[in-house]
Amino acid sequence: MESNSPALLKVENLSKKFLIKKSLLKKEFFKAVDNVSFSLGYNQVLGIVGESGSGKSTIGRLILKLIKKDEGKIEFEGKDIYSLTGKEEKLFRKETSIVFQDPKTSLNPRFKIRQIIEEPLLIHGFPKKERKERVKTAIKDAGLDESFLDRYPSELSGGQRQRVAIARAIVLDPKMIVADEPTSALDVSVQLQIINLIKKLRTEKKISFLFISHDLNVVGMLSDRILVLYRGKIMEKGDARDILKKPAHPYTKILLDSLPPEHPKDRKKLDYLPEVYREEVEGGCVFYSRCPIATDICKKEPQYTKIDNREVYCHFA
Ligand SMILES: Nc1ncnc2c1ncn2[C@@H]1O[C@H](COP(=O)(O)OP(=O)(O)O)[C@@H](O)[C@H]1O
Ligand SMILES: [Mg+2]
Repeated sequence: MESNSPALLKVENLSKKFLIKKSLLKKEFFKAVDNVSFSLGYNQVLGIVGESGSGKSTIGRLILKLIKKDEGKIEFEGKDIYSLTGKEEKLFRKETSIVFQDPKTSLNPRFKIRQIIEEPLLIHGFPKKERKERVKTAIKDAGLDESFLDRYPSELSGGQRQRVAIARAIVLDPKMIVADEPTSALDVSVQLQIINLIKKLRTEKKISFLFISHDLNVVGMLSDRILVLYRGKIMEKGDARDILKKPAHPYTKILLDSLPPEHPKDRKKLDYLPEVYREEVEGGCVFYSRCPIATDICKKEPQYTKIDNREVYCHFA
């Protein structure tokens, strides 16, 4: 399904565990990302959706090499990002960037906006004149005028600060941006502005986005493809339109059913969703305990089922 166009980013069987407890006799690990595969095409938006703690940010950090993978392969433009040498590594850093959820904490409060946006250019050794030009272009491309450059983050609204974070993320002309819940700290009307800005950057600057959110509604507004994550595992991945129109995994259905009512009428609202239906079964489907349709067969781990353009982790798909 993902091989029609060459991939900008290709992730295969990616896994990451965190050490959560260590005693003399035993180490306990938590599987934050479990055998995840996907790819992101050029000029594409891939949405990653899942509830808090499902491993979304960990995936984002892994593919930017901000943390180390345990297993799997990550290729950027056909090259294993773990085998990059000095120059290639630098280019990878230049061609990828990140926007975080909370612009309040991600922007240095002691820096003027100009310095914040300029910093990546300094790191990459751009000459002064070009830095000046690029900073101006970036802030305009992010939808703010130049007068903002002499202000401090504290003088800006949440939406304006997120625009600054985006200006900083685009100032080196990256090919890929990981946007990790970039709208989650913002009011709904401002959320829409940021979503539209990302759409614009994708169209005009051909930047690919890995767009991370817990909100399927938001993810659906701008993603070409969607990956639904639950406890570090992909429940379903495929074209955004298909997934929104006809979710195949019970977890995706639950995410859709919990969307606000301005969504299509044919989506039935769940009256009641118990957090846990039954006890977990070791070696079974990871969604077993919370699945409304599980039966005994689900005590066995499902394989990924391919339907049309989709892959679904469910015995009933
Ligand atoms: N550095 C870390 N050490 C231990 N556990 C971590 C660390 N980073 C993330 N985790 C755990 O991994 C899981 C996934 O986290 P995260 O990727 O941040 O989820 P999400 O972004 O979907 O909310 C969570 O249970 C979180 O507590
Ligand atoms: Mg997160």
